[in-house]
Amino acid sequence: MEEKILVGITGASGSIYALRLLQNLKELGIPTEVIITDAGKLVFQHELEISWRELKDLAEKVYEESEISAPPASGSSPYRAMIIIPCSVGTLGGLATGQARNLLLRAGDVMLKERKPLIIVVRETPLNLIHLQNMVTLTQAGAVLFPAMPAFYHKPKDLEDLVGEFVLRLLSFLKLRDNPKAWQGL
Ligand SMILES: Cc1cc2nc3c(=O)[nH]c(=O)nc-3n(C[C@H](O)[C@H](O)[C@H](O)COP(=O)(O)O)c2cc1C
Repeated sequence: MEEKILVGITGASGSIYALRLLQNLKELGIPTEVIITDAGKLVFQHELEISWRELKDLAEKVYEESEISAPPASGSSPYRAMIIIPCSVGTLGGLATGQARNLLLRAGDVMLKERKPLIIVVRETPLNLIHLQNMVTLTQAGAVLFPAMPAFYHKPKDLEDLVGEFVLRLLSFLKLRDNPKAWQGL
C-alpha cells in the first residue's frame, strides 16, 4: 500500500512551514508529492527567496494547480494523508464549499470523500465569521484544523527552532515520528 503524503502549498504566509515539513519527511524517508497554487508560488519565492521549482529536490512530484488530470485528482490514488501547509482562507473557503476548481482543491475534496486524513494548516489573522464558519464546516466534514500557531513554552532560540517545533508537532500528530520534546510538566 502506498504511503505517500500529499502536501498542498497555497498563497498564505508561512511557506517556511512547507519547506521544513518536506525536508523532515525526506529525512524520515517518507515519499511526498506536492501541489502548489499560483499564489503559493509567488509567496514561496517572496518569503524564502528561492524558486518553488527547488521543491522538485524534496518531493517525488510537484504539480501546479492547473494540472487537474494529475493523480491527486482521483480517489483511486492511494495517498495516506494530505497536509495543506500553509492554507489560505481562500483555499479554506473553496474546500468548505466543495469547489474543486483547481488540483489542490480537488485533492482536498477527494481526501474528504475518501475519508482520509486532511490536515489544514490555516494562516490568517484576524479571522472573520466566514473563516470561522468554514473551519467548523471542514471539521464537521472530517478535516483537522491545525492552525499555524507556534507555541513558545519550549522557548525557541530562533525562527528555525520555532518552525521546527511546529513541524515536529504536526509529524507527531500524524504519528509519523515521536516527539522528543513532548511536554514533561514544569
Ligand atoms: C505576501 C503575501 C502574503 C499573504 N498571506 C496570506 C495569509 O497569511 N493568509 C491568507 O489567507 N492569504 C494570504 N495572502 C493572500 C493569498 O495569497 C490570496 O488570497 C490568494 O488568492 C490565495 O490563493 P490560493 O489559496 O489559491 O493559494 C497573501 C498574499 C501575499 C502576496
